[in-house]
Amino acid sequence: MAIQWFPGHMHLTRKAIAERIAEIDVVIELLDARLPGSSANPMLAELTGHKPGLKVLNKQDLADPGRTALWLAHYNAQPATRAIGLDASQTAPARQLIEACRQLAPQRGGSMAKPMRVLICGIPNVGKSTLINTLVGTRKAKTGDEAGVTKLEQRIVLADGFYLWDTPGMLWPRIIVAQSGYNLAASGAIGRNAFDEELVALELLGYLKRHYAGLLEARFKLDAVAGLGDEEVLEAIGRQRGALLGKGRVNLQKAAEIVMNEFRSASLGRITLETPEEFGQWLAAGQLLDAERQAKKEARGRGKKRAPGREEAPPDAA
Ligand code: G4P
Repeated sequence: MAIQWFPGHMHLTRKAIAERIAEIDVVIELLDARLPGSSANPMLAELTGHKPGLKVLNKQDLADPGRTALWLAHYNAQPATRAIGLDASQTAPARQLIEACRQLAPQRGGSMAKPMRVLICGIPNVGKSTLINTLVGTRKAKTGDEAGVTKLEQRIVLADGFYLWDTPGMLWPRIIVAQSGYNLAASGAIGRNAFDEELVALELLGYLKRHYAGLLEARFKLDAVAGLGDEEVLEAIGRQRGALLGKGRVNLQKAAEIVMNEFRSASLGRITLETPEEFGQWLAAGQLLDAERQAKKEARGRGKKRAPGREEAPPDAA
């Protein structure tokens, strides 16, 4: 999909993480429980030097509970990794976060001499500010009160000897899995001007038809959606909701907005757009394609370099 990409403060964020990471004990990555794989940043492990990681599956109130359990088990089976589910309705998430971090770095946090130092990151709209505000509500935040803490970076004292640092800016994954682009757009993580809503709604409907047909039928009063094409389902939804253009034509743009809004608010039901197994398959296919693209690009680059003066001998001529 042609998503226009705005990496924003990527550079600033990478630099801030690199500067801070040596003195961090645990890295919390906030993920969207509806699309944990797609909302993760594959670069993070490398950036954080493979520090112990806590995956927080946020917005679990919107996600399919059975699939959240699969994702939690998936992450909990990884070395030096723990995973918990959270949502904004929890007024005291600090206890869970503290407990999970202590399990990951048991040697830290027991005293002021060895405080637990935690870094939190996540893609835009995943709920980082909401979570931090809730945490700040319980304890007073300290912002920029020590050397090296920039104005953009926030330190929160979660408990005695337990510090949480927010990462400034954004950490966007380079999207090599097509389905991840659609899922991120459907979730609301990508600004609406950066993608074609109709296309994203059609992809979303295609997935819902295969995995959540019952919810789709109940919400939009449709029958046997599995036998319909994606466009037919979108049209039927537009008609059902009175999104018409005149002469009986359906306003597909409006219908797409309805589908997306109702998915985002979970009016459609609690839905998760990927399982660990599915995402693993998408990722493997995406990595293969990406490697092919990279190889072609490099080959083109070599061709261009040689072309002007033809000075460079072909590699096999040496
Ligand atoms: P960010 O800092 O990571 O960019 O995200 P932020 O906290 O601003 O949250 C993005 C949106 O997600 C907000 O909704 C917020 O209310 C919602 N949100 C955050 N955590 C949860 C959660 O656990 N469950 C649910 N259901 N929603 C959550 P918004 O519509 O952009 O704003 P508003 O609802 O605050 O008006």
